[in-house]
Amino acid sequence: MNILKQSMTVALLAGCFLTLPVLAADKAAGEQKSATCAGCHGAGGKSSNAQFPILAGQQPTYIVNQLKAFKSGNRHNSMMEGMAASLSDDDMDNLAAYFSSQPAVKAGGDAALAKAGQAKAAMCLGCHGEAGAGNGQFPRLAGQHPDYLVKQLASFKDGARKNGQMQGMATTLSEEDMKVLAAYFGSL
Ligand code: HEC
Ligand code: HEC
Repeated sequence: MNILKQSMTVALLAGCFLTLPVLAADKAAGEQKSATCAGCHGAGGKSSNAQFPILAGQQPTYIVNQLKAFKSGNRHNSMMEGMAASLSDDDMDNLAAYFSSQPAVKAGGDAALAKAGQAKAAMCLGCHGEAGAGNGQFPRLAGQHPDYLVKQLASFKDGARKNGQMQGMATTLSEEDMKVLAAYFGSL
């Protein structure tokens, strides 16, 4: 092998190693771990109780961010703080990979309220996506339980839940706005 060929081989090999993905999240391990979540969030994260948000089809980055926030105490909920405390970073990545891979479900929303909500939703779509499907740090809202969405909007507004972008948005919303927007997104 001449020196040129040899150095090309080395360069190609180095290229291969450099493009290897960072350790991928383990969906199967996430599924196993999710048994502890199912009691509240439902099998596969398809919760049918508005107290517990639907996790099926949620954005993986958003799920990880929330689990970290519950663990660090930045987001408060006594049930979730206890759950998140025992999760490692790998557990969180694996659980997020599993729940996000589950087909999303639709909780539904009152049709008349949803129609009123549609008229106000334009200001939300830039971040949460045209169809409310979310992206990265921006959660999926489509199909989520309306009562859960109202509760979150109210807690951004009163400052109990911290997020600069959403606290700014929520201060502009009345209780009625929250109700109709939640019905609209829940019905998508
Ligand atoms: C004892 C009931 C309970 C269990 C078990 C539980 N959760 Fe939760 N979870 C909740 C409640 C209640 C909320 C909503 C908190 C709120 O209203 O802010 C929530 C919220 C969440 C959220 C935020 C969702 C969003 O849309 O912001 C994530 C992510 C989450 N849970 C993941 C998990 C995972 C992963 C597990 C299993 C390791 C789990 N939960 C187990 C009760 C539970
Ligand atoms: C500038 C970007 C931006 C805009 C505009 C925006 N949001 Fe958000 N929203 C976010 C981010 C970021 C989060 C996640 C916050 C976190 O990590 O806790 C979020 C979270 C939420 C949540 C919590 C979801 C859950 O599963 O707990 C709701 C509900 C919500 N937004 C509703 C709305 C509505 C309704 C509008 C329009 C009135 C809106 N948002 C406009 C950025 C935005």
